[in-house]
Amino acid sequence: MPGTADKILQSILSSISQVADSRDIETLLMQFSRMAHELVPADRCTVWVFDKERNILWSRVADGIGRIESSAEEGLVGYVLKSGEPVILNDVYADSRFNPEVDRRTGYLTRNMISIPLKNSDGDILGVFQSVNKLGNIDFLEEDLKLLLFVTVYIGREIDAALLRDELDATQREIIYTLAEAAEMRSQEMGNHVKRVSEYCRLIAELIGLSEKDQELIKVASPLHDLGKIAIPDAILLKPGRLTDEERILMNTHAELGYSMLKHSNRRAFKAAATIAYEHHEKWDGTGYPNKIAGKDIHIFGRISAVADVYDALANARCYKPAWEHERVIALFQEERGRHFDPQIVDAFLENQERFFEINRTFADAHPID
Ligand code: C2E
Ligand code: SIN
Ligand code: SIN
Ligand code: SIN
Ligand code: FE
Ligand code: FE
Repeated sequence: MPGTADKILQSILSSISQVADSRDIETLLMQFSRMAHELVPADRCTVWVFDKERNILWSRVADGIGRIESSAEEGLVGYVLKSGEPVILNDVYADSRFNPEVDRRTGYLTRNMISIPLKNSDGDILGVFQSVNKLGNIDFLEEDLKLLLFVTVYIGREIDAALLRDELDATQREIIYTLAEAAEMRSQEMGNHVKRVSEYCRLIAELIGLSEKDQELIKVASPLHDLGKIAIPDAILLKPGRLTDEERILMNTHAELGYSMLKHSNRRAFKAAATIAYEHHEKWDGTGYPNKIAGKDIHIFGRISAVADVYDALANARCYKPAWEHERVIALFQEERGRHFDPQIVDAFLENQERFFEINRTFADAHPID
Protein backbone atom coordinates (compact mmCIF):
# COMPACT_ATOMS: atom_id res chain seq x y z
CA MET A 1 0.00 0.00 0.00
CA PRO A 2 2.09 2.97 -1.22
CA GLY A 3 1.49 6.16 0.71
CA THR A 4 0.22 4.47 3.85
CA ALA A 5 3.42 5.01 5.78
CA ASP A 6 3.39 8.66 4.72
CA LYS A 7 -0.16 9.07 5.88
CA ILE A 8 0.62 7.46 9.21
CA LEU A 9 3.63 9.67 9.72
CA GLN A 10 1.65 12.75 8.80
CA SER A 11 -1.09 11.96 11.24
CA ILE A 12 1.44 11.34 13.98
CA LEU A 13 3.25 14.59 13.29
CA SER A 14 0.10 16.64 13.22
CA SER A 15 -1.12 15.05 16.43
CA ILE A 16 2.22 15.63 18.14
CA SER A 17 2.25 19.29 17.24
CA GLN A 18 -1.28 19.60 18.63
CA VAL A 19 -0.18 17.81 21.77
CA ALA A 20 2.78 20.12 22.20
CA ASP A 21 0.37 23.05 22.48
CA SER A 22 -1.88 21.38 24.95
CA ARG A 23 -1.41 21.93 28.64
CA ASP A 24 -4.06 19.97 30.46
CA ILE A 25 -3.96 16.27 30.91
CA GLU A 26 -7.52 15.45 29.92
CA THR A 27 -7.21 17.26 26.59
CA LEU A 28 -3.93 15.45 26.03
CA LEU A 29 -5.54 12.08 26.64
CA MET A 30 -8.27 12.84 24.10
CA GLN A 31 -5.70 13.83 21.51
CA PHE A 32 -3.70 10.67 22.04
CA SER A 33 -6.82 8.58 21.70
CA ARG A 34 -7.42 10.24 18.36
CA MET A 35 -3.84 9.57 17.30
CA ALA A 36 -4.04 5.91 18.24
CA HIS A 37 -7.31 5.66 16.38
CA GLU A 38 -5.66 6.92 13.19
CA LEU A 39 -3.05 4.20 13.43
CA VAL A 40 -5.23 1.25 14.38
CA PRO A 41 -8.92 1.89 13.79
CA ALA A 42 -10.83 0.63 16.78
CA ASP A 43 -14.14 1.49 18.32
CA ARG A 44 -12.64 2.97 21.44
CA CYS A 45 -9.29 3.99 22.84
CA THR A 46 -8.90 4.36 26.55
CA VAL A 47 -5.99 5.91 28.40
CA TRP A 48 -6.04 4.81 32.02
CA VAL A 49 -3.98 6.93 34.42
CA PHE A 50 -2.71 5.30 37.60
CA ASP A 51 -3.49 7.20 40.79
CA LYS A 52 -1.00 5.71 43.24
CA GLU A 53 -2.45 7.25 46.36
CA ARG A 54 -5.94 5.88 45.76
CA ASN A 55 -4.68 2.71 44.06
CA ILE A 56 -7.09 3.19 41.19
CA LEU A 57 -6.91 3.84 37.48
CA TRP A 58 -9.02 6.61 36.05
CA SER A 59 -9.97 7.46 32.54
CA ARG A 60 -12.13 9.86 30.68
CA VAL A 61 -14.33 8.12 28.12
CA ALA A 62 -14.55 10.17 24.94
CA ASP A 63 -17.84 12.09 24.89
CA GLY A 64 -18.66 10.40 28.16
CA ILE A 65 -19.89 11.94 31.36
CA GLY A 66 -16.77 12.66 33.34
CA ARG A 67 -14.28 10.10 34.56
CA ILE A 68 -14.58 6.39 35.05
CA GLU A 69 -12.51 4.55 37.63
CA SER A 70 -11.25 1.01 38.00
CA SER A 71 -9.41 -0.70 40.84
CA ALA A 72 -5.68 -1.05 40.22
CA GLU A 73 -5.94 -4.64 41.46
CA GLU A 74 -8.56 -5.81 38.99
CA GLY A 75 -9.07 -6.61 35.34
CA LEU A 76 -6.68 -6.54 32.45
CA VAL A 77 -5.75 -2.99 33.29
CA GLY A 78 -4.67 -4.13 36.74
CA TYR A 79 -2.78 -7.04 35.24
CA VAL A 80 -0.90 -4.90 32.71
CA LEU A 81 -0.17 -2.26 35.33
CA LYS A 82 1.51 -4.91 37.50
CA SER A 83 3.22 -6.99 34.83
CA GLY A 84 4.41 -4.07 32.69
CA GLU A 85 3.82 -6.21 29.57
CA PRO A 86 1.35 -5.58 26.75
CA VAL A 87 -1.47 -8.07 26.17
CA ILE A 88 -3.51 -8.81 23.04
CA LEU A 89 -6.84 -10.53 23.70
CA ASN A 90 -9.21 -11.34 20.88
CA ASP A 91 -11.96 -12.83 23.05
CA VAL A 92 -11.94 -10.94 26.32
CA TYR A 93 -14.87 -12.74 27.94
CA ALA A 94 -12.96 -16.01 27.62
CA ASP A 95 -10.09 -14.63 29.71
CA SER A 96 -10.38 -14.61 33.49
CA ARG A 97 -8.18 -11.51 33.77
CA PHE A 98 -10.83 -9.40 32.06
CA ASN A 99 -13.10 -7.51 34.41
CA PRO A 100 -16.64 -7.20 32.97
CA GLU A 101 -17.48 -4.63 35.63
CA VAL A 102 -16.54 -1.64 33.45
CA ASP A 103 -18.75 -2.95 30.64
CA ARG A 104 -21.57 -3.45 33.09
CA ARG A 105 -21.29 0.13 34.30
CA THR A 106 -20.88 1.74 30.88
CA GLY A 107 -23.34 -0.49 29.00
CA TYR A 108 -20.62 -1.28 26.47
CA LEU A 109 -19.76 -4.69 25.00
CA THR A 110 -16.04 -5.33 24.81
CA ARG A 111 -15.06 -7.98 22.27
CA ASN A 112 -11.31 -7.71 21.91
CA MET A 113 -8.57 -5.38 23.06
CA ILE A 114 -4.89 -4.53 23.14
CA SER A 115 -3.64 -3.31 26.53
CA ILE A 116 -0.25 -1.59 26.75
CA PRO A 117 1.52 -0.25 29.85
CA LEU A 118 2.38 3.48 29.77
CA LYS A 119 5.83 4.29 31.11
CA ASN A 120 7.86 7.41 31.65
CA SER A 121 11.49 7.68 30.55
CA ASP A 122 12.62 6.14 33.86
CA GLY A 123 10.47 3.06 33.16
CA ASP A 124 7.95 3.79 35.92
CA ILE A 125 4.48 2.61 34.96
CA LEU A 126 2.03 5.49 34.86
CA GLY A 127 -1.04 3.83 33.46
CA VAL A 128 -2.44 1.61 30.75
CA PHE A 129 -3.51 2.25 27.19
CA GLN A 130 -6.32 0.15 25.74
CA SER A 131 -7.51 -0.08 22.17
CA VAL A 132 -10.93 -1.75 22.23
CA ASN A 133 -12.98 -3.55 19.55
CA LYS A 134 -11.02 -3.40 16.33
CA LEU A 135 -13.18 -2.04 13.53
CA GLY A 136 -14.33 -4.43 10.80
CA ASN A 137 -15.12 -7.18 13.28
CA ILE A 138 -11.60 -8.58 12.95
CA ASP A 139 -8.85 -9.62 15.33
CA PHE A 140 -6.06 -7.43 16.64
CA LEU A 141 -2.69 -8.49 15.19
CA GLU A 142 0.91 -8.25 16.36
CA GLU A 143 1.39 -5.46 13.79
CA ASP A 144 -1.31 -3.41 15.50
CA LEU A 145 0.56 -3.75 18.75
CA LYS A 146 3.78 -2.58 17.11
CA LEU A 147 2.11 0.54 15.73
CA LEU A 148 0.45 1.34 19.03
CA LEU A 149 3.69 0.86 20.97
CA PHE A 150 5.09 3.72 18.95
CA VAL A 151 2.33 6.07 20.13
CA THR A 152 2.34 4.88 23.71
CA VAL A 153 5.95 5.97 24.14
CA TYR A 154 4.74 9.53 23.55
CA ILE A 155 1.68 9.06 25.71
CA GLY A 156 3.82 7.93 28.65
CA ARG A 157 6.17 10.86 28.32
CA GLU A 158 3.40 13.41 28.02
CA ILE A 159 1.41 12.02 30.91
CA ASP A 160 4.50 12.21 33.06
CA ALA A 161 5.01 15.87 32.17
CA ALA A 162 1.32 16.62 32.66
CA LEU A 163 1.25 14.89 36.04
CA LEU A 164 4.18 17.01 37.14
CA ARG A 165 2.37 20.14 36.01
CA ASP A 166 -0.63 19.07 38.05
CA GLU A 167 1.53 18.20 41.04
CA LEU A 168 3.14 21.61 40.94
CA ASP A 169 -0.11 23.21 41.85
CA ALA A 170 -0.72 26.91 42.08
CA THR A 171 0.19 27.01 45.77
CA GLN A 172 3.58 25.46 45.23
CA ARG A 173 4.36 27.83 42.38
CA GLU A 174 3.27 30.73 44.51
CA ILE A 175 5.54 29.69 47.36
CA ILE A 176 8.47 29.38 45.01
CA TYR A 177 7.87 32.79 43.48
CA THR A 178 7.33 34.40 46.85
CA LEU A 179 10.64 33.04 48.12
CA ALA A 180 12.40 34.00 44.91
CA GLU A 181 11.04 37.54 45.13
CA ALA A 182 12.08 37.83 48.75
CA ALA A 183 15.60 36.96 47.66
CA GLU A 184 15.41 39.45 44.82
CA MET A 185 14.12 42.27 46.96
CA ARG A 186 17.33 42.09 48.92
CA SER A 187 19.12 43.30 45.82
CA GLN A 188 16.62 45.48 44.01
CA GLU A 189 18.86 45.99 41.02
CA MET A 190 18.41 42.38 40.08
CA GLY A 191 14.99 43.18 38.66
CA ASN A 192 13.88 40.38 36.38
CA HIS A 193 17.03 38.26 36.88
CA VAL A 194 15.08 35.39 38.42
CA LYS A 195 12.47 35.34 35.68
CA ARG A 196 15.09 35.42 32.92
CA VAL A 197 17.29 32.73 34.47
CA SER A 198 14.23 30.52 34.72
CA GLU A 199 13.47 31.02 31.01
CA TYR A 200 17.08 30.41 29.90
CA CYS A 201 17.22 27.26 32.01
CA ARG A 202 14.10 25.85 30.39
CA LEU A 203 15.39 26.72 26.94
CA ILE A 204 18.76 25.05 27.56
CA ALA A 205 17.04 21.95 28.92
CA GLU A 206 15.02 21.78 25.71
CA LEU A 207 18.05 22.39 23.46
CA ILE A 208 20.12 19.61 25.01
CA GLY A 209 17.21 17.19 24.82
CA LEU A 210 16.07 16.81 28.42
CA SER A 211 12.54 15.45 28.89
CA GLU A 212 9.54 17.77 29.04
CA LYS A 213 9.29 16.88 32.68
CA ASP A 214 12.81 18.10 33.37
CA GLN A 215 12.29 21.21 31.26
CA GLU A 216 9.31 22.10 33.41
CA LEU A 217 11.09 21.16 36.62
CA ILE A 218 14.14 23.34 36.02
CA LYS A 219 11.94 26.21 34.92
CA VAL A 220 9.99 26.07 38.15
CA ALA A 221 12.94 25.40 40.46
CA SER A 222 15.67 27.70 39.08
CA PRO A 223 14.18 30.98 40.39
CA LEU A 224 15.40 29.87 43.81
CA HIS A 225 19.06 29.55 42.80
CA ASP A 226 20.11 32.63 44.80
CA LEU A 227 17.71 32.18 47.73
CA GLY A 228 20.72 32.09 50.09
CA LYS A 229 21.41 35.76 49.28
CA ILE A 230 18.56 36.53 51.71
CA ALA A 231 21.11 36.02 54.45
CA ILE A 232 23.84 38.24 52.96
CA PRO A 233 24.13 41.72 54.54
CA ASP A 234 23.13 44.71 52.37
CA ALA A 235 26.57 46.25 52.72
CA ILE A 236 27.94 43.35 50.72
CA LEU A 237 24.99 42.44 48.54
CA LEU A 238 24.45 46.00 47.32
CA LYS A 239 28.07 47.13 47.32
CA PRO A 240 28.63 49.19 44.17
CA GLY A 241 32.24 48.09 43.70
CA ARG A 242 34.41 45.02 43.90
CA LEU A 243 34.18 42.81 46.96
CA THR A 244 37.15 42.36 49.25
CA ASP A 245 38.41 38.82 49.79
CA GLU A 246 36.59 38.66 53.11
CA GLU A 247 33.34 39.91 51.64
CA ARG A 248 33.76 37.45 48.81
CA ILE A 249 34.00 34.51 51.22
CA LEU A 250 30.80 35.59 52.93
CA MET A 251 29.05 36.16 49.60
CA ASN A 252 29.99 32.68 48.41
CA THR A 253 28.17 31.10 51.34
CA HIS A 254 24.88 31.92 49.55
CA ALA A 255 25.10 28.65 47.60
CA GLU A 256 25.27 26.41 50.65
CA LEU A 257 22.83 28.61 52.58
CA GLY A 258 20.21 28.28 49.86
CA TYR A 259 20.73 24.54 49.83
CA SER A 260 20.28 24.34 53.62
CA MET A 261 17.02 26.25 53.41
CA LEU A 262 15.59 24.03 50.69
CA LYS A 263 16.96 20.58 51.37
CA HIS A 264 14.37 19.47 53.94
CA SER A 265 11.46 19.40 51.55
CA ASN A 266 10.42 16.16 49.91
CA ARG A 267 8.63 17.92 47.08
CA ARG A 268 10.18 17.39 43.69
CA ALA A 269 10.40 21.10 42.81
CA PHE A 270 12.10 22.00 46.08
CA LYS A 271 14.55 19.13 45.83
CA ALA A 272 15.52 20.34 42.37
CA ALA A 273 15.78 23.90 43.70
CA ALA A 274 18.05 22.72 46.52
CA THR A 275 20.38 21.06 44.01
CA ILE A 276 20.44 24.14 41.81
CA ALA A 277 21.13 26.47 44.75
CA TYR A 278 23.96 24.20 45.85
CA GLU A 279 25.63 23.63 42.50
CA HIS A 280 25.06 26.72 40.33
CA HIS A 281 28.54 28.08 41.12
CA GLU A 282 30.40 24.82 40.63
CA LYS A 283 32.60 24.77 37.54
CA TRP A 284 33.14 22.05 34.93
CA ASP A 285 36.91 22.03 35.64
CA GLY A 286 36.40 21.65 39.39
CA THR A 287 37.45 25.20 40.42
CA GLY A 288 34.02 26.45 41.50
CA TYR A 289 32.34 26.55 44.92
CA PRO A 290 31.24 25.36 47.45
CA ASN A 291 32.46 21.78 46.86
CA LYS A 292 34.77 22.02 43.85
CA ILE A 293 33.03 19.15 42.14
CA ALA A 294 33.73 18.71 38.42
CA GLY A 295 32.24 17.54 35.11
CA LYS A 296 29.22 15.31 35.30
CA ASP A 297 29.50 15.06 39.08
CA ILE A 298 27.75 18.40 38.88
CA HIS A 299 24.05 17.72 38.41
CA ILE A 300 22.84 18.60 34.91
CA PHE A 301 20.53 21.23 36.48
CA GLY A 302 23.57 22.79 38.18
CA ARG A 303 25.50 22.90 34.91
CA ILE A 304 22.54 24.42 33.08
CA SER A 305 21.85 27.07 35.70
CA ALA A 306 25.55 28.07 35.75
CA VAL A 307 25.35 29.06 32.08
CA ALA A 308 21.97 30.74 32.52
CA ASP A 309 23.07 32.68 35.63
CA VAL A 310 26.34 33.96 34.20
CA TYR A 311 24.77 34.87 30.86
CA ASP A 312 22.24 36.97 32.69
CA ALA A 313 24.79 38.54 35.03
CA LEU A 314 26.94 39.60 32.06
CA ALA A 315 24.24 40.67 29.63
CA ASN A 316 22.65 42.97 32.22
CA ALA A 317 23.88 45.67 34.56
CA ARG A 318 24.59 44.78 38.19
CA CYS A 319 25.23 47.06 41.14
CA TYR A 320 28.92 46.18 40.69
CA LYS A 321 29.24 46.19 36.88
CA PRO A 322 27.64 47.61 33.73
CA ALA A 323 25.99 45.39 31.10
CA TRP A 324 28.42 43.82 28.63
CA GLU A 325 28.19 44.05 24.85
CA HIS A 326 26.78 40.88 23.30
CA GLU A 327 30.08 40.10 21.52
CA ARG A 328 32.00 40.27 24.78
CA VAL A 329 29.56 37.89 26.44
CA ILE A 330 29.94 35.42 23.57
CA ALA A 331 33.72 35.66 23.75
CA LEU A 332 33.61 34.76 27.44
CA PHE A 333 31.53 31.66 26.81
CA GLN A 334 33.89 30.55 24.04
CA GLU A 335 36.80 31.08 26.42
CA GLU A 336 35.15 29.25 29.33
CA ARG A 337 33.85 26.31 27.28
CA GLY A 338 35.17 23.22 29.06
CA ARG A 339 36.59 25.38 31.88
CA HIS A 340 33.78 27.04 33.80
CA PHE A 341 31.04 25.44 31.69
CA ASP A 342 29.92 22.09 30.30
CA PRO A 343 30.99 22.23 26.62
CA GLN A 344 27.76 20.61 25.42
CA ILE A 345 25.73 23.36 27.07
CA VAL A 346 27.96 26.14 25.74
CA ASP A 347 27.54 24.75 22.23
CA ALA A 348 23.75 24.72 22.59
CA PHE A 349 23.92 28.28 23.87
CA LEU A 350 26.23 29.54 21.12
CA GLU A 351 24.20 27.92 18.36
CA ASN A 352 21.00 29.51 19.65
CA GLN A 353 22.29 32.78 21.05
CA GLU A 354 19.55 34.90 19.43
CA ARG A 355 16.94 33.04 21.44
CA PHE A 356 18.72 33.91 24.69
CA PHE A 357 19.15 37.49 23.54
CA GLU A 358 15.44 37.58 22.80
CA ILE A 359 14.50 36.37 26.30
CA ASN A 360 16.82 38.98 27.76
CA ARG A 361 15.07 41.67 25.73
CA THR A 362 11.56 40.41 26.50
CA PHE A 363 12.15 40.44 30.26
CA ALA A 364 14.38 43.51 30.35
CA ASP A 365 14.57 45.36 33.64
CA ALA A 366 12.22 48.31 33.88
CA HIS A 367 14.88 50.59 35.34
CA PRO A 368 18.30 49.41 34.22
CA ILE A 369 20.96 50.99 36.37
CA ASP A 370 23.50 51.99 33.75
P1 C2E B 1 25.46 37.41 40.09
O1 C2E B 1 25.56 38.90 39.96
O2 C2E B 1 24.15 36.79 39.80
O3 C2E B 1 26.58 36.77 39.16
C1 C2E B 1 26.56 35.41 38.85
C2 C2E B 1 27.85 34.96 38.23
O4 C2E B 1 28.06 35.63 36.96
C3 C2E B 1 29.08 35.26 39.00
O5 C2E B 1 29.27 34.33 40.02
C4 C2E B 1 30.17 35.16 37.94
O6 C2E B 1 30.45 33.81 37.65
C5 C2E B 1 29.48 35.74 36.72
N1 C2E B 1 29.85 37.17 36.62
C6 C2E B 1 29.14 38.21 37.04
N2 C2E B 1 29.80 39.36 36.76
C7 C2E B 1 30.95 39.02 36.13
C8 C2E B 1 32.07 39.76 35.58
O7 C2E B 1 32.10 40.98 35.62
N3 C2E B 1 33.06 39.04 35.02
C9 C2E B 1 33.03 37.70 34.95
N4 C2E B 1 34.05 37.07 34.38
N5 C2E B 1 32.01 36.97 35.47
C10 C2E B 1 30.99 37.63 36.06
P2 C2E B 1 30.18 34.70 41.25
O8 C2E B 1 31.41 35.39 40.78
O9 C2E B 1 30.38 33.47 42.06
O10 C2E B 1 29.35 35.75 42.07
C11 C2E B 1 28.22 35.37 42.83
C12 C2E B 1 27.47 36.56 43.28
O11 C2E B 1 28.33 37.37 44.09
C13 C2E B 1 27.06 37.47 42.14
O12 C2E B 1 25.84 36.99 41.57
C14 C2E B 1 26.90 38.79 42.88
O13 C2E B 1 25.69 38.86 43.61
C15 C2E B 1 28.04 38.75 43.88
N6 C2E B 1 29.23 39.44 43.40
C16 C2E B 1 30.24 38.89 42.68
N7 C2E B 1 31.21 39.82 42.45
C17 C2E B 1 30.79 40.96 43.05
C18 C2E B 1 31.36 42.28 43.17
O14 C2E B 1 32.46 42.58 42.68
N8 C2E B 1 30.62 43.20 43.87
C19 C2E B 1 29.42 42.91 44.43
N9 C2E B 1 28.76 43.89 45.08
N10 C2E B 1 28.87 41.68 44.33
C20 C2E B 1 29.54 40.72 43.65
C1 SIN C 1 -10.38 -4.61 31.96
O1 SIN C 1 -9.31 -4.05 31.73
O2 SIN C 1 -10.43 -5.77 32.41
C2 SIN C 1 -11.67 -3.91 31.69
C3 SIN C 1 -11.43 -2.54 31.16
C4 SIN C 1 -12.46 -2.17 30.12
O3 SIN C 1 -13.44 -2.84 29.95
O4 SIN C 1 -12.23 -1.12 29.45
C1 SIN D 1 33.69 40.86 39.37
O1 SIN D 1 34.92 40.79 39.39
O2 SIN D 1 33.08 41.89 39.01
C2 SIN D 1 32.88 39.68 39.81
C3 SIN D 1 32.96 38.57 38.82
C4 SIN D 1 33.93 37.49 39.19
O3 SIN D 1 34.59 37.58 40.25
O4 SIN D 1 34.09 36.54 38.42
C1 SIN E 1 21.37 14.56 29.18
O1 SIN E 1 20.62 13.96 29.94
O2 SIN E 1 21.11 14.85 27.99
C2 SIN E 1 22.72 15.02 29.69
C3 SIN E 1 23.15 14.12 30.80
C4 SIN E 1 24.44 14.58 31.35
O3 SIN E 1 25.13 15.39 30.69
O4 SIN E 1 24.78 14.14 32.46
FE1 FE F 1 24.48 32.64 42.84
FE1 FE G 1 22.32 34.55 40.16
